[in-house]
Amino acid sequence: MDILVVGGGGREHAVIKALKKSRRAGKIYALPGNGGIARDAECVPVKATDIAGIVEFARSRKVDFAIVTPDDPLVLGCVDALEAAGVPCFGPDKKAAVIEGSKVFSKQLMQKYSIPTAASEVFTDPAAAVEYLRTADYPTVIKADGLALGKGAVIVNNFDEAQKTVKEMMVDRVFGASGERILVEEFLTGPEVSVLSFTDGKTVVPMVSSMDHKRAKDNDEGLNTGGMGTVAPNPYYTPEIAAQCMERIFLPTIRAMNAEGRPFKGCLYFGLMLTPKGPKVIEYNCRFGDPETQVVLPLLTSDLLEIMLAVRGGSLKEDMVRFKKGAACCVVLASEGYPKKYDTGFPITLPETGANEDIYIAGAKLEDGQLVTSGGRVLGAVATADTLKEAIDAAYALADKIHFENAYMRRDIGKRALAAQSTN
Ligand code: AMP
Ligand code: GLY
Repeated sequence: MDILVVGGGGREHAVIKALKKSRRAGKIYALPGNGGIARDAECVPVKATDIAGIVEFARSRKVDFAIVTPDDPLVLGCVDALEAAGVPCFGPDKKAAVIEGSKVFSKQLMQKYSIPTAASEVFTDPAAAVEYLRTADYPTVIKADGLALGKGAVIVNNFDEAQKTVKEMMVDRVFGASGERILVEEFLTGPEVSVLSFTDGKTVVPMVSSMDHKRAKDNDEGLNTGGMGTVAPNPYYTPEIAAQCMERIFLPTIRAMNAEGRPFKGCLYFGLMLTPKGPKVIEYNCRFGDPETQVVLPLLTSDLLEIMLAVRGGSLKEDMVRFKKGAACCVVLASEGYPKKYDTGFPITLPETGANEDIYIAGAKLEDGQLVTSGGRVLGAVATADTLKEAIDAAYALADKIHFENAYMRRDIGKRALAAQSTN
């Protein structure tokens, strides 16, 4: 079965490596892929947002199955276009992808169906937002409605910061049309947990939980990034909390999307906060998380392609999704300066990887056969082990054997999880 994967980051590299283990996987194409993915798939220079180009390619190569991973093509309707052209897909259609594409939509969905989330108000007029913020409790959270490369949520500590953020989002339009509407949201506290799930619109099967590290610097300082590392499982996510989430959040969300005529098929990502009043939804993503996927899929023991086909076909069963015991850790190596300005073009040297290790390439390209850096997040060094401590140590040992000029990594990925584990 020939497969097309839309996207070109570390997450897509992890998906492709997992697909390659499938008995039924034939040729794998990545659009556009990257210099590291090129070792595992045929990379084709078609942008992930070039929907017509993707459909044209899938048709011309008679691709049997397509997997659309990034948020923007999903929100743009890539799955709808491929399915209309006769290419079966893994991923939600445009109507369902709105659960990530519009934070106003997802907030109203949660309010309508009593799914626990932060209280919030929607504004379309900057003056009305500012008026409301004058008497708000601080800190508070301001979110742009649409996609914003993970940067659309800003925690503001006082009225001045709030006013400035409203101006940037709604007047200066730093996120373009994504700032036409904003949400002003209650500030919640508690550990965050990422839960990716497979769903065919009827059955929802959560994957092993994980913990992202979004800030650029150690001790959760510095700017927000796309993610500097992850561990799985997340020790805060106990079986009791998992049961509560299934009953109060996962199943109600699937039912709500069906009731709205927007059945969701694909990977639904629940970004949760475990607040003193119970688990609440911080955000939904309509896709695999990055870099959560890089720790979740290495623990998957069942066949990813079979699961994806069952999701598409509406025949997903819980026992199809199996994980090994143990833990995984991903340490992201970034270009010094990320998420702001950074230099690229430096040659990368990669070590051999052992049986429980892997390197997923995110921002690198091939130049005359040499892998060189081309992005902010360059790659993820991943290890699995019986315990979280061993997985963290092994991921760092691997990361320390990878070299390129300007490499930067956090040194504390998994530290908070280890501390939580010892107090559980
Ligand atoms: P989002 O883009 O909605 O995932 O938000 C990005 C990050 O902002 C989250 O991972 C949280 O750390 C933080 N955040 C978002 N919403 C809230 C909230 N209501 N209360 C506290 N922190 C939040
Ligand atoms: N790691 C968070 C995300 O993929 O949105």
